[in-house]
Amino acid sequence: MNGDYLTRFLIHEQRKSPNATGEFTMLLSDIATACKAIAHEVNRGALAGNLGIAGSENIQGEAQKKLDVIANDLFIRSLEWTGHLAAMASEENDEIIPIPPAHAKGKYLICFDPLDGSSNIDINLTVGTIFSILRAPEGRDNPTEADFLQPGTQQVAAGFCTYGPTTLMVLTTGNGVNGFTLDRDVGEFVLTHPNMRIPEETSEFAVNMSNQRYWEEPVRRYIDECLKGKDGGREKNFNMRWVASMVAEVYRILTRGGIFMYPYDTRDVNKPGRLRLMYEANPMSFIVEQAGGASSTGRRRILDIEPNGIHQRVPVILGSKAEVERVVSYHR
Ligand code: AHG
Ligand code: MN
Ligand code: MN
Ligand code: MN
Repeated sequence: MNGDYLTRFLIHEQRKSPNATGEFTMLLSDIATACKAIAHEVNRGALAGNLGIAGSENIQGEAQKKLDVIANDLFIRSLEWTGHLAAMASEENDEIIPIPPAHAKGKYLICFDPLDGSSNIDINLTVGTIFSILRAPEGRDNPTEADFLQPGTQQVAAGFCTYGPTTLMVLTTGNGVNGFTLDRDVGEFVLTHPNMRIPEETSEFAVNMSNQRYWEEPVRRYIDECLKGKDGGREKNFNMRWVASMVAEVYRILTRGGIFMYPYDTRDVNKPGRLRLMYEANPMSFIVEQAGGASSTGRRRILDIEPNGIHQRVPVILGSKAEVERVVSYHR
């Protein structure tokens, strides 16, 4: 299996389920194409005039970067015509994105963050794309926002790409997690990281420390113990990382373990966290759980949340199981 092209890997998986029509395989393959196109634009950077701000604001209240807009357009254009989707939802679009009447509709819904970590674009750090696939309700010609509001446990697949030193795709279809590296000469993703598992022994935490004064007591306590290490409350010393690209943090955790959090904070009662449930928290939680880790808001499993809107935000604490469970236990 190691060394297989993504398409071959997907067809191999498809053959395991006798009723599969191949539609899902084709959808994932089209997503891979969209990510390759985005990787190309990210890579061209200033050469293509792709850096800097777009001059617009999204519904999240963020100033959009040019590449937020480019990646969003590329993702939509690459997938709207394929016939595999019934509708889409993006971090960058206020409303759900219908399939234009000229194109056939399919049985899946997709939620995506076209460019994650976009504050890192102009400083040439890793950014990425995150996606989550849900089933569209049967017999509904024009899905509504309500049709997207399914808990994360209903995801059929989730994945992300990182555009860093190499372009990688990490994918789960509910049967473990596999990582693929883009071979630019061939133009294909190649299975390089089969069956990724989050190491259980870990001593690395990732959190934006500048928000410390807004945290709740349980998170303060956990981070405080990490900072003190062997000199206070823990059996080991901890190291800290903060990339400000969730894709890079989750990839690191899949590779060498650790805990990542963007916890509940008291700044704005309407925003009980920074990260978005449908585009970030759910797909990443699915991947992390499938790799043997855990993911929680501190009070409940993220994948069990009944969403109340496509742009809903939630606190996120994910990574190595024992560490996540420790933070959760402090919330009780
Ligand atoms: P996006 O670029 O898609 O808006 O997401 C950024 C997210 C996430 O990737 C990262 O973990 C976090 O926001 C960074 O937040 P800070 O700028 O507060 O560190
Ligand atoms: Mn954003
Ligand atoms: Mn993001
Ligand atoms: Mn984004």
